[in-house]
Amino acid sequence: MNNNEVSARLAGEISLGNQLSVHRLGFGAMRLTGEGIWGPPKDRKAALAVLRRALELEVKFIDTADSYGPHVSEELIAEALFPYPKGLVIATKGGWNRPGPNQWTHDATPAHLREAVEGSLKRLRLDRIDVYQLHIPDPQVSFEASVETLAELRNQGKIRLVGLSNVTREHIERALNIVPTVSVQNRYSFADREWDYVVDYCESHGIAFIPWFPLGAGRAAGEVLDKIAQAHQATPKQVALAWLLRRSPIMLPIPGTSSIEHLEENVAAAAVQLSEEEYERLAGVPELVASR
Ligand SMILES: NC(=O)c1ccc[n+]([C@@H]2O[C@H](COP(=O)([O-])OP(=O)(O)OC[C@H]3O[C@@H](n4cnc5c(N)ncnc54)[C@H](OP(=O)(O)O)[C@@H]3O)[C@@H](O)[C@H]2O)c1
Repeated sequence: MNNNEVSARLAGEISLGNQLSVHRLGFGAMRLTGEGIWGPPKDRKAALAVLRRALELEVKFIDTADSYGPHVSEELIAEALFPYPKGLVIATKGGWNRPGPNQWTHDATPAHLREAVEGSLKRLRLDRIDVYQLHIPDPQVSFEASVETLAELRNQGKIRLVGLSNVTREHIERALNIVPTVSVQNRYSFADREWDYVVDYCESHGIAFIPWFPLGAGRAAGEVLDKIAQAHQATPKQVALAWLLRRSPIMLPIPGTSSIEHLEENVAAAAVQLSEEEYERLAGVPELVASR
């Protein structure tokens, strides 16, 4: 692997709703908070430095949510990066709350989403949020009602583009009847392919797919990864990211970390080019695991 240049630019570009264009390797800001995605980071200066380093590495897309901390992740982004450089896209989310460490509760009611968008605007010091994602459909609330609220906020100019997270194809189709939907964020990696059909659907509809937990892999996956990583003088995490980048041109991975060293390693994955054979070997891991 060529270690000379470390830049998210090497992953190429992706368009969001034909309105914004970002490098196809972003940064997930969930891990910057305290343990259990709760409270402030242990080392605030280090968290701010990670965000600033991400920009130096030409990361143009940062994913966050009001519930990370709660509020902490958005506040850190503003503290580290405001005034934001041209071309940086911050995507936040609402509709899933964090009442305590490792606890999540739904609230995607129209009233809550309106309030959540106001809160994110304030914390991020923005007049308009570039990408606002419904964090997860709320089983107690009509999905249409949640999406209609985001469409309304978009019409009011508080949101530029609408995205979804933790959804099925049916949700995407229902959302598309209400508002242009530019991104879908679901759990996905080469070893974790429940949402393959959603990736394919997004590709055919020009919707960005943002895989969360992109570095997740089990032990069996590790054995295959290690061999390929050695061949590229890369790390297993870099190979996992390279697989995602090759999987589809609409893939926009957002590996998250609280460490500058890991950030640099993850961004350097943009330069790792897997062969067809390596790509297929990794793609076969879920079947390999199932056969054991
Ligand atoms: N929509 C949703 O429901 C949802 C859910 C979860 C996450 N997300 C988003 O997706 C982003 C990524 O997901 P994720 O944080 O769950 O998973 P991830 O990025 O796959 O993994 C993050 C974990 O891996 C470690 N790590 C990162 N880079 C590494 C490296 N190069 N070497 C070794 N360890 C490394 C991090 O620890 P260190 O800090 O020690 O590096 C952290 O514990 C989040 O930041 C968030 O923005 C969305």
